[in-house]
Amino acid sequence: MKLRPAGEDDLQTLAVLNRQLLDGEGHPSPVTLPDLVDRHRDWLGTGEWTQDILEVDGMVVGYIVHGLNPYPLDPQVPERFIRQFCIDRAYRRHGLGRDAFELFMEMRLEPGGRVTLDVLESNPAGQAFWQAVGCRPFFHRLEAFRPLA
Ligand SMILES: CC(C)(COP(=O)(O)OP(=O)(O)OC[C@H]1O[C@@H](n2cnc3c(N)ncnc32)[C@H](O)[C@@H]1OP(=O)(O)O)[C@@H](O)C(=O)NCCC(=O)NCCS
Repeated sequence: MKLRPAGEDDLQTLAVLNRQLLDGEGHPSPVTLPDLVDRHRDWLGTGEWTQDILEVDGMVVGYIVHGLNPYPLDPQVPERFIRQFCIDRAYRRHGLGRDAFELFMEMRLEPGGRVTLDVLESNPAGQAFWQAVGCRPFFHRLEAFRPLA
């Protein structure tokens, strides 16, 4: 497996995989492919998030979006937040997610560095995956809404 920075030519693929990610994790967002292309293009332009493509034998099998956390838990320990992580649904359950996370740790995280990420409650498969690759629960993010009326 290879991990390489995404470029303009990857925007459509990123959008398709991002839609798969949203569907896979049970995210309610109705965002369309053109909107997602725009989002990934913006990130390419601003560099706000790093977008990496995962390839096996030159074929795209997934992607990761991540960024350095400017407010790490321990200022001495560099910390990266994984915002999006998806393996193409055609290639799941063959160990590619595990390989991708190992590669990410090796290539994008300094030795001793910390990685954090959020997993939706609606995504038990994602939760099982992250536990299987060695991530531990750290906190639960809660939400509530003030009624409109
Ligand atoms: C979660 C995801 C990245 C896993 O990728 P993958 O390539 O299928 O994962 P792997 O084959 O490397 O699985 C490694 C281990 O994780 C666990 N795992 C993976 N998918 C699982 C599932 N659907 N249900 C339960 N456990 C799962 C298993 O322990 C697995 O080991 P095993 O196959 O030997 O049992 C992929 O399913 C995906 O992209 N899902 C949609 C997007 C998503 O949920 N991303 C994470 C958002 S936080």
